[in-house]
Amino acid sequence: MEALKKYTALIEKELAKDPFPASPVELYDPLRYFLTLGGKRIRPVLTLLSAELFGGSAEKALPQALAIEVFHNFTLIHDDIMDEAPTRRKMPTVHEKWNTNIAILSGDVLLIKAYQLLAQAEAHQLQEILDVFNTTSVEVCEGQQMDMNFEERMDVSINEYIEMIRLKTSVLLGGALEIGAIVAGATAEDRKRIYDFGQYLGIAFQIQDDILDLYADPEKFGKMVGGDVVANKKTLLYLMAVGSANAEQQEILKQLQREENIELKISRTRELFDHLGAKEKCREEMLSYQNKAMDSLKEINVPEAQKAGLIALADFLLNRNW
Ligand code: IPE
Ligand code: IPE
Ligand code: MG
Ligand code: MG
Ligand code: MG
Repeated sequence: MEALKKYTALIEKELAKDPFPASPVELYDPLRYFLTLGGKRIRPVLTLLSAELFGGSAEKALPQALAIEVFHNFTLIHDDIMDEAPTRRKMPTVHEKWNTNIAILSGDVLLIKAYQLLAQAEAHQLQEILDVFNTTSVEVCEGQQMDMNFEERMDVSINEYIEMIRLKTSVLLGGALEIGAIVAGATAEDRKRIYDFGQYLGIAFQIQDDILDLYADPEKFGKMVGGDVVANKKTLLYLMAVGSANAEQQEILKQLQREENIELKISRTRELFDHLGAKEKCREEMLSYQNKAMDSLKEINVPEAQKAGLIALADFLLNRNW
């Protein structure tokens, strides 16, 4: 991540400028709190790296990069309400620290803020940027709804799961990269290739997120460990476990979905997942998407040295343990 520090520093510096008014404090304090909590800032860095990959400048892509990060933060505030998550980035979530109404409205302001930032694009690029952004954001909502629907279902297939995470997570990585490419004036073919890189990377990234949700070190993770199990999320861990389970084990998994003792629910589920080799199977699947991402990147016809930043980011993302 060392090589990427200058990009994250650029993003942090802009976010620290704080364009929001003081009052009403109930509206602006929560979003200020959330935006400055940190986070990996991978999406805006993708936008900046993509602009540079295609010969543009990171500076010029900065408002678009910030728009993507602000939009991402909006989705997280609302996602934490939907997932009833108590902590994020090692701190209480907005709906926990304040309340749900406040989390809804301050999230909404961030969505509008994202559009204000996007609108700073050069006039001749604005429509294309908006097209990508609008398609992407609706898809994120579609993915989020599928994620919620799956909580109630026991028959989710791996294909359905991949489509759900493609929508809720990957398209935003793809969109972040494509918008950087638009700013740099890349060709339609290159826009498609870099978008594909982002989609595959995003799928691998969400599989990693699913693994970490149950197996991360709680000290480092910053989110509640086991939250997906508590919410009956149909993560890839779950699907891989069910896929290898015998009838009796399947029945136990089903019963565990109704277990009310949260600690017991998490520990029993983890034991069974371990026994069924779910984590290893997920890692294999993750690796296959990582390889697809790298293949898409190879197809882009620019000097290999210019791809170093994106390769470093992918390595960091998929090898982290927090
Ligand atoms: C969390 O995204 C939501 C997912 C798509 C898994 P990040 O892991 O990028 O969250 P921050 O921004 O670094 O906190
Ligand atoms: C989040 O998926 C995807 C979006 C925010 C759109 P998760 O629900 O797995 O993300 P985390 O684990 O809460 O960060
Ligand atoms: Mg969620
Ligand atoms: Mg969540
Ligand atoms: Mg998660």
